[in-house]
Amino acid sequence: MDIEIQLATEEQKKQKPADSVLEFGKKFTDHLFEMEYENERWGTPRIVPYHPFTLDPATTVFHYGQEIFEGMKAFRHPDDSIHLFRPYKNAERFNRSAERMSMPTVNKDLFVKAITELIRLDNEWTPNSPGMTLYIRPTMIATEVALGVHPSNRYLFYIILSPVGSYFKTGFKPTKVYVASTHVRATPGGTGEAKTGGNYAATLWSQQKAKNKGYPQVLWLDAIERRYIEEAGAMNVMMVIDGEVYTPALDGAILKGITRESVIELARTLGYLVHEESIDINDLIAKLEDGSCSEIFCVGTAASITPIGEIYYKEKVYEVNGSEIGKITQHLYDELVGIQFGKIPDRFNWMYKVF
Ligand SMILES: Cc1ncc(COP(=O)(O)O)c(C=O)c1O
Repeated sequence: MDIEIQLATEEQKKQKPADSVLEFGKKFTDHLFEMEYENERWGTPRIVPYHPFTLDPATTVFHYGQEIFEGMKAFRHPDDSIHLFRPYKNAERFNRSAERMSMPTVNKDLFVKAITELIRLDNEWTPNSPGMTLYIRPTMIATEVALGVHPSNRYLFYIILSPVGSYFKTGFKPTKVYVASTHVRATPGGTGEAKTGGNYAATLWSQQKAKNKGYPQVLWLDAIERRYIEEAGAMNVMMVIDGEVYTPALDGAILKGITRESVIELARTLGYLVHEESIDINDLIAKLEDGSCSEIFCVGTAASITPIGEIYYKEKVYEVNGSEIGKITQHLYDELVGIQFGKIPDRFNWMYKVF
């Protein structure tokens, strides 16, 4: 399917920020991709100058939160080529989210083509400083103008690009997590596995509470027993116990992270034993106290691999590995980021060349 392209004029083009001032998700490139769905079919795919949307106050998405999104990154390699990380995985998850939220799916090839065409056009926005990337945000919103709870009959699928620095201001340094003990993120049978805005809105109260105590991330427990570890705010979680890697098994409430899946494969290839199973927060704390849990880290697109140096749970603070980056965390980080930035060979065929 051909994508119509309308180029931004010189006046519409923005000033590109220097890599050194980039934060996460604050600046956006000159163009966006958009495609509307109406009468049970998708219309013409278009790349147009970046612009605000004008939406009626009664638009469905504002009232009932029928919305999904993805988070991906483009990496500039040493030879200046630009690559995506496993984009078809995001296309598949986008469509799974769409089905869960009663929204139309998008052709996977078009999803990837839209991203690659958009990046080709705005390629100068892909940073080339170490660790910096072009973040990609495919989104779909319900655009029918009507009140009343029902699936919308109109949708807008759009993609925006944002040059980004580190997700955490601290960069690749141990961060701290706050275990939410009174609120939950997702429930069995709910929407936890879908990447939909409401899941994130539900986390803000705890996130604020964590922030007030000096913790940048929340670690979520399961909704039924309130003791099995699920995931962090925007990342899956892994720990090293007696030299082996553990991560919570997917239970329908946890987002199926693409980094999680990749790190599991990577770790196994590097010779580590990886277990996907339920992990009780109380057992984890006992293992931190007796020293058998030596590392905890989070994995996700936005923050790659992030070591955890401290856990707060029920008014108590537990240090992880003396707040130092663990050996296995560092090893996995070096391998994953090395592949993503084209510094080491991609033996998994994960990278998808944009140009
Ligand atoms: C709630 C949540 N869990 C986990 C992840 C990690 O998923 P991925 O590795 O696909 O970015 C994300 C980020 O998308 C997320 O928002």
